[in-house]
Amino acid sequence: MAAKDIQQVTPEHVAIIMDGNGRWATRRGMPRLYGHRSGARRVREVVRACPDLGVRYLTLYAFSTENWKRAPTEVEGLMALFHRYITSETTELIDSGVRVRFIGDRTKLDPKLVSLMTQLEADTKPNDLLHLTIALNYGARDEIVRASARMAEAVRSGCLLPDDIDGDTICGYLDTADLPDPDLVIRTSGETRVSNFLLWQSAYAEYAFTPVLWPDFTAADFGEILLSYGARERRYGAVAQ
Ligand code: FPP
Repeated sequence: MAAKDIQQVTPEHVAIIMDGNGRWATRRGMPRLYGHRSGARRVREVVRACPDLGVRYLTLYAFSTENWKRAPTEVEGLMALFHRYITSETTELIDSGVRVRFIGDRTKLDPKLVSLMTQLEADTKPNDLLHLTIALNYGARDEIVRASARMAEAVRSGCLLPDDIDGDTICGYLDTADLPDPDLVIRTSGETRVSNFLLWQSAYAEYAFTPVLWPDFTAADFGEILLSYGARERRYGAVAQ
């Protein structure tokens, strides 16, 4: 297939559930955090690959609202890893045209991490080559609950009329208000669950499941999944032409 054809069928927005770090480490007799650190290197590789593959929006599920149930050492290690990722990647992200956004509830995160996140969002705001969204303390149900509370508040204060609420109104109150819906959601590691990720936004997304564990997931694996997406026909509830 020619590069031109690949571009034509490339999904604009790809969201990834990066699963399998723990198993990858355990199989090597290593602590789970070793898997997360290797996973962070794959994040870098996949982000770098997006512009050449024609992906304009990439959303990564980094930490869910349910992940707090993990052992405190793992949670602390992951938070330290996010901290390190932001500080070590800022310059490259700015220079390579990546705009970074974070979705999820920030109120439960360490204020120092939140201030790094806010700064990275501000520093990369002018960029437009790739829109990278990192879901951190994100859960789709939690997002819908927070959006509903803010909508109810807008109704109470007279800024929003109940009769005016439609799908677009709800989209506008979600964390992803500025983003298009994902066209393709990928989950690594062989699990075939959605795990509370972008439930509203993925209503018409295609799903791709791969047995590859996230720390083994290469840019070539990513490219192959994008090619198989190109062969699918999306009908959005209509009948095939
Ligand atoms: C799920 O695998 C993965 C996570 C909960 C963490 C994902 C985080 C990273 C890839 C680290 C870097 C991220 C960024 C954005 C810098 P799991 O631990 O549940 O794997 P398992 O199912 O094999 O236990």
